[in-house]
Amino acid sequence: MSKLLQDNTETIELNSSVHSLPDQEFARDVTRGLSANRKYLSSKYFYDEKGDELFQQIMELDEYYLTRSEYSIFDKNKERILETFCADCKGFNLLEFGAGDGYKTKVLLRHFAEQNTNFHYSPIDISANSLEQLTNTLEIELPKLKVSGLRGEYFQVLEGLKSNQEERRIVLFLGSNIGNFTKQIAIQFLDQLHSALNPGDLVMIGFDLKKDPSKILGAYSDKSGVTSAFNLNLLSRINRELGGNFNLNNFIHSPYYDPVSGECRSYLISTIEQTVHIDDLNMQAHFKAWEAIHMEISTKFDLDGTDELATTTGFKIEANFFDDKKWFVDSVWSVK
Ligand code: AVJ
Repeated sequence: MSKLLQDNTETIELNSSVHSLPDQEFARDVTRGLSANRKYLSSKYFYDEKGDELFQQIMELDEYYLTRSEYSIFDKNKERILETFCADCKGFNLLEFGAGDGYKTKVLLRHFAEQNTNFHYSPIDISANSLEQLTNTLEIELPKLKVSGLRGEYFQVLEGLKSNQEERRIVLFLGSNIGNFTKQIAIQFLDQLHSALNPGDLVMIGFDLKKDPSKILGAYSDKSGVTSAFNLNLLSRINRELGGNFNLNNFIHSPYYDPVSGECRSYLISTIEQTVHIDDLNMQAHFKAWEAIHMEISTKFDLDGTDELATTTGFKIEANFFDDKKWFVDSVWSVK
């Protein structure tokens, strides 16, 4: 690696001084979720090394239209997006929550770089592993780009975001990651984001839109079983990291879509009555036959819903970018 490349890229670990905290949180959340009356686990724990890999496979599935839809939005609208971001500004700091492997964002980064835009890119992700992969590939593909990766959780990062930076900040929250929040948490997140930003700053949020329920359900129940493995991997993670003895063969994955609320919920369902032991937590989780663990919520929106989210959290809608089928929207909002 050349010195020049190293100089342009850095990664900051947000909670480096409290290294044991994430593990404790995982233990606490698993304890809570599996002793609740209605069992649940948080999808934010899907993304360990194996989970990152499985999610990359999901993005390539025929059934998983989300990534391709957003990719095509960026590919077709990159000029207009740059205009919306920085018609006559001096430069900006581009922050991305949940950057992942950056597959879609690179379309924009490449275009911005080609137009000699003055900007700095700060990908933020919960997974140290995918952050490292992203910064490594960026060093090769866009060696002149200034990159500072930040490893941390969304709300943690928000806390540190408040500043009187002079440069415009543009926050990306893509892929319909916002759909993983309940409506209440989404509003809380956007409220906090709004108060961390300054007038003139922008956000661009990707929302998966309501459509034929069979398309939506297809995306979360692919034929090859990758999404099932993605969910089951969290049980394996509990086995590995917390000394659990989940038998993955005794659970099936089952998504459910409610066209009114737009919530697509994923469950793992125990096919038999069973007791699972989790040694490190000193707990047993008892399952009745066909009892469910709620694993994930992936909300689908309509434009009234996205507009309402923007206005109730104090943002002004600047532009909406759609794919040809209108399956997905990237909405740009400003801080007044
Ligand atoms: C990365 C949160 C957008 O909810 O569609 C993919 C994760 N879960 N398949 C989504 C996911 C099952 C994905 N997000």
